[in-house]
Amino acid sequence: MVRIISFCNQKGGVGKTTTAVSASAYLRALGKKVLLVDIDPQANATSGVGINPKNVKQTVYHIIIDDISPRNVIKQTRLIGLDILPASTDLAGATIELVKAKRREFRLKDALQSIAKDYDYIIIDSPPSLGLLTVNALTASHKVIIPVQCEYYSLEGLAELLKTITLINKNLKTKIEVMGTLLTMYDRKSRLNRAVAKETRRKFPGYVFDTTIPRNVSLAEAPSFGKTILHYDPYSHGAKAYRRLAEEILMIEKLSR
Ligand SMILES: Nc1ncnc2c1ncn2[C@@H]1O[C@H](COP(=O)(O)OP(=O)(O)O)[C@@H](O)[C@H]1O
Ligand SMILES: [Mg+2]
Repeated sequence: MVRIISFCNQKGGVGKTTTAVSASAYLRALGKKVLLVDIDPQANATSGVGINPKNVKQTVYHIIIDDISPRNVIKQTRLIGLDILPASTDLAGATIELVKAKRREFRLKDALQSIAKDYDYIIIDSPPSLGLLTVNALTASHKVIIPVQCEYYSLEGLAELLKTITLINKNLKTKIEVMGTLLTMYDRKSRLNRAVAKETRRKFPGYVFDTTIPRNVSLAEAPSFGKTILHYDPYSHGAKAYRRLAEEILMIEKLSR
């Protein structure tokens, strides 16, 4: 049975895309068949695995707006066994077009059903908003992982997102579970980072991943080469952290079955 996990945070620049791409690569490296779904109009996950969004004819946009089968849109990446449903800037318009669509909150969930059995994990990278695209990512997911940067306002954003997920579960009758919060771009020399990390673990006990992602220049460089960290710099601290994250996800999944 496929497991669908989305990476969400309405704040931009917190490491959603880096985490979705890197976790996908390491889940693949650990033997899982993985589909990465890019539902952000900025298409950073798409370019992050080496595909130029300008060169793809059909994208997630056509799946959720025109009912095109995902099978016709899936592209292989250079890592065999890691496929992607690419995004393009068209998706920005989808937010408005979705408003009048039937089952507008479930377009992605419905579409993924036809390919679910081809994968062990479907990983969704979502946009920095709480709009309909993010709602589509959430309702399609069994679980959500929330990347947060250890900064002053992070916890407020986190509380707001948790409230939104509770509301979605209530109003749309879904059962989305929060797998946890992931501390990203962590600098252990920063007193603020250390303080916010401690406060996050105190406020959300059991919901913060043991793995913390360090600030690491290789992680920032990799996307400009269209490579995941697994290909770009597998011995970097960033790569090792994402490998540990993938292992932790598999462990949590095993324990929760
Ligand atoms: N651990 C990290 N260390 C250094 N740079 C990072 C790290 N994680 C992400 N970045 C960089 O920070 C920026 C924002 O990250 P990104 O994953 O695109 O966030 P989001 O998808 O939440 O907007 C990008 O330029 C990315 O390359
Ligand atoms: Mg992003």
